[in-house]
Amino acid sequence: MKVIVADEYEIMSREAAKIVAAEVRNKPDCIFALPTGGTVFGLYEELIRMHREEGLDFSGVSTFNLDEYIGLPPDHPSSYHYYMYERFFNHVNISRDRIRIPNALAEDPEGESVAYEWAIKRAGGIDLAVLGIGRNGHIGFNEPRTEFGSVTRPIYLAKRTIEANARFFGGDSDSVPRQAISMGIRTIMNSRRIVLLASGTEKSRAINQTVHGPVTDTVPSSVLQLHPDCTLILDKEAACELEPSANGFVPGSGTKTMVY
Ligand code: F6R
Repeated sequence: MKVIVADEYEIMSREAAKIVAAEVRNKPDCIFALPTGGTVFGLYEELIRMHREEGLDFSGVSTFNLDEYIGLPPDHPSSYHYYMYERFFNHVNISRDRIRIPNALAEDPEGESVAYEWAIKRAGGIDLAVLGIGRNGHIGFNEPRTEFGSVTRPIYLAKRTIEANARFFGGDSDSVPRQAISMGIRTIMNSRRIVLLASGTEKSRAINQTVHGPVTDTVPSSVLQLHPDCTLILDKEAACELEPSANGFVPGSGTKTMVY
């Protein structure tokens, strides 16, 4: 597992954007899994800047979002549909018919999940999955004790996740939906490449467990140790509990790279 530690949040966001941009340039019809959440605000801003100033071309790219809250209409300001269009899709030249986000209003969420999983397969699988991480180590909305063999399905959010995400619902945890449709751990692990971003000391314990802990379903992100091409991009607060590794410090660049 490769770990890039950036001095600041902005550098972390730029490092992640460089990886996403390289993927788009190398494979213009590449397929992404995309996250929402506070951590990736800076990543989307930087990608929009690269599109405007450097001509980064998203016209051939396809995207699958990791998750969506069940019951929120797409025009609800706290829905992940709304987030993605406001913060990214409306500002780049991605083709609308290549954007997929789970349909949270589907009458049959199970059926919607199966169709979503099939759509990923039919598209050829995910080239690069971009992830955030929950304080409890969730990836997507795969909460502790999710089976590693899980695929896209309806899930219940953990209490800690509901509390953490209340900030996107005016601070009111009662307004946070209790269920979502989420890609599964296996769906994510089948991606050819994975990049996970984390920022802030509140993520440092989960990051420590992701890198150094046993691979266990009580910390879903620990499964990433088993992926052949996984990079964590952290700010120094999120990295503060990591044991140092022997290699790769680049003084003055604002980042250091470690391999575990
Ligand atoms: C959201 C998602 C979640 C978030 C995680 C971190 O689409 O899949 O796993 O990435 O909850 O959220 P923030 O960045 O808000 O701390």
